[in-house]
Amino acid sequence: MVKAVVLGAAGGIGQPLSLLLKASPLVSALALYDIVNTPGVAADLSHIATPSKTEGFLPPDDGLAKALTGADVVVIPAGVPRKPGMTRDDLFKINAGIVRDLATGIAKTCPKAFVLVISNPVNSTVPIVAEVLKKHSVFDPKRLFGVTTLDVVRASTFVGEITKTDPQQVVIPVVGGHSGVTIVPLLSQSSAPLPSSFAGAELDALIHRIQFGGDEVVKAKDGAGSATLSMAYAGAEFALKVIRAAKGEKGIIAPTYVYLDDAAKSLVGNGVDVDFFSTNVELGPDGVKEIKSLGSLTDKEKALVAAAIPELKTNIEKGVAFINAPK
Ligand code: NAD
Ligand code: LMR
Repeated sequence: MVKAVVLGAAGGIGQPLSLLLKASPLVSALALYDIVNTPGVAADLSHIATPSKTEGFLPPDDGLAKALTGADVVVIPAGVPRKPGMTRDDLFKINAGIVRDLATGIAKTCPKAFVLVISNPVNSTVPIVAEVLKKHSVFDPKRLFGVTTLDVVRASTFVGEITKTDPQQVVIPVVGGHSGVTIVPLLSQSSAPLPSSFAGAELDALIHRIQFGGDEVVKAKDGAGSATLSMAYAGAEFALKVIRAAKGEKGIIAPTYVYLDDAAKSLVGNGVDVDFFSTNVELGPDGVKEIKSLGSLTDKEKALVAAAIPELKTNIEKGVAFINAPK
């Protein structure tokens, strides 16, 4: 029995993500929470002929607590998306408080659930959730994940196009964080190797496209938001990996933005001394089973990792301070 909860379920990501979770036989109960429209979304999904029972909740009458009761996996795509000209950090002002309040609900109602954070800026919202869980003495770093899967999906798609390989077969670790230069694709480790002639400006353009793929969608949507459908695909893919590993499937490895203790920092190496970082993680029954090293990097990749660290540090400190700084 697996109960999945989507917080922000009526949104651009929330609805297709909930659809994909409803479609999965791995989910037996699905609770949808948002400040609007969840009764309708839940009624609609509940007609789909899969075993899970779908319920919608709104804030009145303790709707958040009711949605979260008995949760095994909580996915959070609640919050505002970017418009052209904005950075993800510009969303902090609104989304930090939303994520804090939802994390408080998780700490009180389902502290053992796996928590998957999609709301931007991920580099800061994941530390916010960690600090809230710490304040309630229920922080388990193995159970908190920043969802960076869309960067991985983009890398597979773009490299699949270049190498004329089925993108679903292309595996590329994308490490660091989830914004601009903090997104570091390790293209030298691609399961579909790029041709050796693919270097210089061509390689730089590919790295830039993976780092700034979100901007491409924001620009194309022209004020109507950011990636929703590809994010729902990526979010469902990662959530179902977490669920499959929790159910005992072995060998599931995926990059995700997780807490690094000192041992993990030295394992990841390459000057990574930040408290949160996306790296390959082996998932297991209790969440993070093993944090993997970055492996062998090219000089260019080493430079990209080094360039990611200062922005990551600032983003992480900002999230931590939001919860702990005196008001
Ligand atoms: P959206 O505006 O379409 O949907 C957000 C939903 O959150 C809305 O339905 C809204 O009612 C709900 N919401 C707002 N406050 C809430 C609260 N307090 N409790 C519960 N629900 C609340 O936005 P979207 O396009 O779905 O994007 C959502 C977030 O995901 C944004 O912050 C966006 O930047 C982020 N995002 C992250 C990634 C990633 O790779 N991690 C990718 C795409 C988008
Ligand atoms: C993305 O990478 O598409 C998301 O983080 C949304 C955004 O703001 O670009």
